[in-house]
Amino acid sequence: MNYFLGIDVGTTGCKAILVDENGELIAKGVEEYPLYTPRPNWAEQDPSDWWQGTQQAIKKTLDSVSIDRKAIVGIGLTGQMHGSVFLNNKGEVIRPAILWCDQRTAKECEEITQIVGREKMMRINGNPVLAGFTAPKIYWLKNNEPDHYKRIDKILLPKDYIRFCLTGEFATDVSDASGTSLFDVPRRQWSDEIISDLKLNRNWFPDCFESPEITGYLKREIAQLFGMNDQVIVVAGGGDNAAGAIGTGIVKSGLVSASIGTSGVVFAFSDEVKIDMKGRVHTFCHAVPGKWHVMGVMLAAGGSFRWLRDVLGTEEKNLAALLDKDAYEILTEEAAQVEPGGEGLIFLPYLTGERTPHADPYARGVFFGLTLKHRKNEIVRAVMEGVTFGMRDSFEIIREMGIPIGEVMTIGGGAKSPLWRKIQADIYQVPLYQVRVDEGPAFGAALLAAVGKGVFPNVEQACQKAVKVMDKVYPDSQKGIRYNEIYQIYKDLYPALKPFYKRISNISW
Ligand code: XUL
Repeated sequence: MNYFLGIDVGTTGCKAILVDENGELIAKGVEEYPLYTPRPNWAEQDPSDWWQGTQQAIKKTLDSVSIDRKAIVGIGLTGQMHGSVFLNNKGEVIRPAILWCDQRTAKECEEITQIVGREKMMRINGNPVLAGFTAPKIYWLKNNEPDHYKRIDKILLPKDYIRFCLTGEFATDVSDASGTSLFDVPRRQWSDEIISDLKLNRNWFPDCFESPEITGYLKREIAQLFGMNDQVIVVAGGGDNAAGAIGTGIVKSGLVSASIGTSGVVFAFSDEVKIDMKGRVHTFCHAVPGKWHVMGVMLAAGGSFRWLRDVLGTEEKNLAALLDKDAYEILTEEAAQVEPGGEGLIFLPYLTGERTPHADPYARGVFFGLTLKHRKNEIVRAVMEGVTFGMRDSFEIIREMGIPIGEVMTIGGGAKSPLWRKIQADIYQVPLYQVRVDEGPAFGAALLAAVGKGVFPNVEQACQKAVKVMDKVYPDSQKGIRYNEIYQIYKDLYPALKPFYKRISNISW
């Protein structure tokens, strides 16, 4: 029996999973690492933490099973998108990586849009330049840390830095490269035109592959470290959303996934390039060769719930430790005692600005409708519902673009809670499926490695064999009517508050 490793370089930690050649999950290991916020709305990580974390996660995974490690034949990589790893000509990291959820680059987004032109950017890249994307981070470095900028020799995305550590090769894949603002999404290659308009050096960017393609082999010393063979292939892999979609089986038209992790993502498969000219959702290459996807991204979905747990959930954390439960479980039990709509309390989940649908780095979180009657239960429920309304915004746009929404798979932390699955079904008003293996991106990456090795003839067949549905939740139409009413108010709150977001950000604290 052959085995494959899927490695997900996430925002909170690295997850490694081991999958056999039938697509069965055999083992997994997670290692967390810190996220640094040197200023409000900044988010950085140290790539050496990712590398340490990856090694620990692989070690934990392999130590938890007794298989012949020489039977591991392939590795697939995935990870948080858009992050910038700047390397000098010795392959050393120049400064901490600036992450997808960092919002420091509003000015650089405008600068790049001016230089390239919005129409050209939309035509070539399919997306407006957004604060979390990679190109504005490069310009931020140029404008703010010119000494660092001068030393750049390579710019890598997070999972591709780990590829460099594992194989010594510089490479990326089409789905992750799509989120750099420097990629020609319809033609699935770097855009020489945008790169030259921005006067960036083309050699800074690694070769780009389709996701199941082989980009190199595990270095001998790394293979030895884990007791593996040095003939292990490392495939291109994908950005976490595209790889997650493989792990969830979103590989044909009509299939959509709704993922509530730190970010919230609604991901729809597309046979052709479909672009929202208003730039509210992203159009990126899929990890299925020759296919695309459209996705809406919220910046603080599970992140809002984590914030709530950390700020208001000390009691629940203590109780959880006593009862050997999860603090989130106790919080959702509290929310379950409240009727849909949280007695008129509405939460706007823009804790770190927002991408879909507003693309506004200045947006802020809001509780609207607080009264003396509200207790913590309603606050918890409002956060869960507010995040779900934000996800519904993406469903609305995707429908408007004429992309079919048939079956919806739910994944991520939000899919683990039965209450949150129910809230999602009722707010989206679609039947919701939960997949059996909830390791979306890492699972997808392992399947891509199996395709690269030739175990499956293509990604679609890998998914057919490996991805299984576990649970289905149906929407309640009565609750749907109530939620529709509240959703209309939720939608009207952002434009009403918009001018105040910028004003408050102008005050220095
Ligand atoms: C996608 C995005 C996030 C990160 C999170 O555009 O920014 O989903 O990939 O890991």
